[in-house]
Amino acid sequence: MGRNSFLLFIFIIVATFSLAQESPRYIIDFNKDWKFFLGDDSAAINPNFNDTKWRMLNLPHDWSIEGSFNEKNPATTQGGALPGGIGWYRKTFVLPPNSNNKNISVEFDGIYRNSEVWINGHYLGKRPYGYSSFNYDLTPYIYKAPAKNVIAVRVDNSQQPNSRWYTGSGIYRNTRLICTNPVTAIKRFGVSITTSYSDRANANIDVAVDLNRGVNPAEPVSVSTNIYDPSGNQIQQPKRTAIKRPISDNSKYIQLFHIDDPKLWSPDHPYLYKAITQIVSGGKLIDQVSTTFGIRSFYFDANKGFFLNGKPLKILGVCNHHDLGALGAAVNSRAIERQLKLLKAMGCNAIRTAHNPPAPELLDCCDKMGFLVLEEAFDMWKKKKNKFDYYSDFDQWHKNDLETMVLRDRNHPCIFMWSIGNEIREQFDSSGISLTKELVSIIKQLDSTRPVTAALSEWNPAKNFIYQSGALDIVGLNYHQEVYADFHKYYPGKIFLGTENMSAFATRGHYDMPSDSNYFWPAKSPQKIVEKGNPDFTVSAYDQVSAYWGSTHEATWKIIKKHDFLSGLFVWSGFDFLGEPIPYPWPARSSYYGIIDLAGFPKDVYYMYQSEWTSKPVLHLFPHWNWTPGKLVDVWAYYNNADEVELFLNGTSLGVKKKANDDLHVMWRVPFEPGMLKLVSRKNGKEVLTKTMHTAGAPAAIQLTADRKIIHADGKDLSFITIEVLDKNGHPVPEADNSMNCVVSGQGLLVAMDNGYPADTSSFKSPSKKCWMGKALVIVQSAGKQGNITVRVYSPGLAPAGLTLKARSGSPGLRNRSRKWASTK
Ligand code: GAL
Repeated sequence: MGRNSFLLFIFIIVATFSLAQESPRYIIDFNKDWKFFLGDDSAAINPNFNDTKWRMLNLPHDWSIEGSFNEKNPATTQGGALPGGIGWYRKTFVLPPNSNNKNISVEFDGIYRNSEVWINGHYLGKRPYGYSSFNYDLTPYIYKAPAKNVIAVRVDNSQQPNSRWYTGSGIYRNTRLICTNPVTAIKRFGVSITTSYSDRANANIDVAVDLNRGVNPAEPVSVSTNIYDPSGNQIQQPKRTAIKRPISDNSKYIQLFHIDDPKLWSPDHPYLYKAITQIVSGGKLIDQVSTTFGIRSFYFDANKGFFLNGKPLKILGVCNHHDLGALGAAVNSRAIERQLKLLKAMGCNAIRTAHNPPAPELLDCCDKMGFLVLEEAFDMWKKKKNKFDYYSDFDQWHKNDLETMVLRDRNHPCIFMWSIGNEIREQFDSSGISLTKELVSIIKQLDSTRPVTAALSEWNPAKNFIYQSGALDIVGLNYHQEVYADFHKYYPGKIFLGTENMSAFATRGHYDMPSDSNYFWPAKSPQKIVEKGNPDFTVSAYDQVSAYWGSTHEATWKIIKKHDFLSGLFVWSGFDFLGEPIPYPWPARSSYYGIIDLAGFPKDVYYMYQSEWTSKPVLHLFPHWNWTPGKLVDVWAYYNNADEVELFLNGTSLGVKKKANDDLHVMWRVPFEPGMLKLVSRKNGKEVLTKTMHTAGAPAAIQLTADRKIIHADGKDLSFITIEVLDKNGHPVPEADNSMNCVVSGQGLLVAMDNGYPADTSSFKSPSKKCWMGKALVIVQSAGKQGNITVRVYSPGLAPAGLTLKARSGSPGLRNRSRKWASTK
């Protein structure tokens, strides 16, 4: 049964219950039709406040990305040089009549930062940490239908700088209302599913359910869970079903299941089960929660590395921040899915959520697409990294924030480890010992199934107090690849994981020669800005430049690859992100670390990873072939599944090359002559792949390529359209910087344009953008209705181009996730 049948199955279940009796729990999308004001007005808490002049918008929303880049913005270029400030959101709403007898709560997946919320003038509370999910019970203050309610949210991101990277500002994640039975209901995050044993033949699953017993704690209830496969078939007759009730606590129920021949979850086979838990009292269904889970087991062996479902698996990870490039921090499932698809095709199998809990949609996508996730809680504890960062909230909030992370996310099969922090300053003195113990114990009380680590920048165990606490399960080292081979000399018997690696720089499409000398930019500590960089704020895209604390991509990967006990790594970073534009000052405003640029265009080193991390045939030739005649050009090739590669210029062989020893690329040094380069890879004398590249003429035409021509007509779904400049023969013009003007009409909206250049200070929201190295990107969003979307792109002197997309209603697939049945709240 396919996805459609599964949806049909869900629909039938929903329909059955709604026919039989009033739905016990439902979730109302609370993202639509908010009013927004950028500024401060405390009168806005008043239900009668007049907000007619405020802007109407749908959440998720990030106001910073709408602003202008400016060197003087207090977030500094480290924070992306975009504005912060204070903003207000208000929403006037009427509850549906069938919610009149329910408990109503509002849930926010994250607000950056310092949010405060009022319902009908009543203060509900505040939440400083911008990455935590939280909820408020609205029941005592809410008016039943048809009366109106007003919720007001103040967001204060004015104290800057408060982050080392771009954060976004506002209600940048999803919100919802949750309606449950007033007497007894499953607690928020009240279903926890763990696998106590699994192999190919057997799995033991424990489902723990925690109830709110409301006004009548003695009321007899029955708790039951059914388990379904992805096609919606119920797993028949689990052999081990029993209900244990802890004697001291009548709110907790544990059910034990046995599943024969379980389908195990892994990055290659991300098989998901669904558990539907029901609470029945007096013959009435009073609550129901659906939980997605996977069955997998893993362990680390100090000498042999990581094992998933009994088989060795090198952790091939990347670190990512949460921004979605030109979309800013505003969560969009389709944009997340696009990023993960690119990483999957590269062979990446793991993500580290640097340096904070992510949006739930990222974890849903990782469950479905097959990525292991190292979820990280904090970038600082009590010692700050920036003047206004979370350090001042840590004492009061860290327990709550850490517990929320674990409770919210512990059912995701993708999460295999927790990190209590990144390069935390307390590692350098003894205050790190007790704090580490405390944080680890907070996690372990809620989840004993996953190891806990911290991303340590002090490699020396004698000097690292977080390590010395003895509380970490796994030693997570950031950088210091020079000690990895001798890891067990320093950490006898311990488990290694590279929690952050490389920090190599590159600008897509820019090449500095000679390419066979490696260098640090800047050369040494403590500088962060290179003194003699390139005047156009570029860094060579040959894998030759890195921060002094890191290495080229090849250098660290060669070490990790060589030793089984090095269980894996997380490259800094998968994607370029907004902020932290090391090694350049303004106007650079986004990072250079990504394997993929901010617009989602792979840099050349993407193919080095692909050639190493996948088994599909790879052949990648670079740089471009437009140079001054006679210039000596370094031609590189990444390849796999072949014994040799041969390069031809205008039909003449420039020689056969083979990777020797641990080489990861080959190179020819060629005097440039215009024409055609051709590269052939061969195995046992037989051709595997061929790549050609032409010297391009003047820009003549525009080519548009949409990643998806049919999108969902839900007001959220996106199509990412690549603009490329071609010459009159249809060859890409590698350094073209033509300005592109984009017009979108019909049932779509132009939401952003980008080109991946880290020092472009034009707004992402502008409908015109210069190409960077021959390319630009248009992001088009469904306007919410079915119909055609016409995209036209104009550029002076070039023939215009256009394409038509379709917005259709139908299966939403991975995107546009419905929380109705996925929620465990
Ligand atoms: C690390 C840090 C990251 C990022 C990176 C840049 O030390 O953990 O957040 O700043 O350096 O190289």
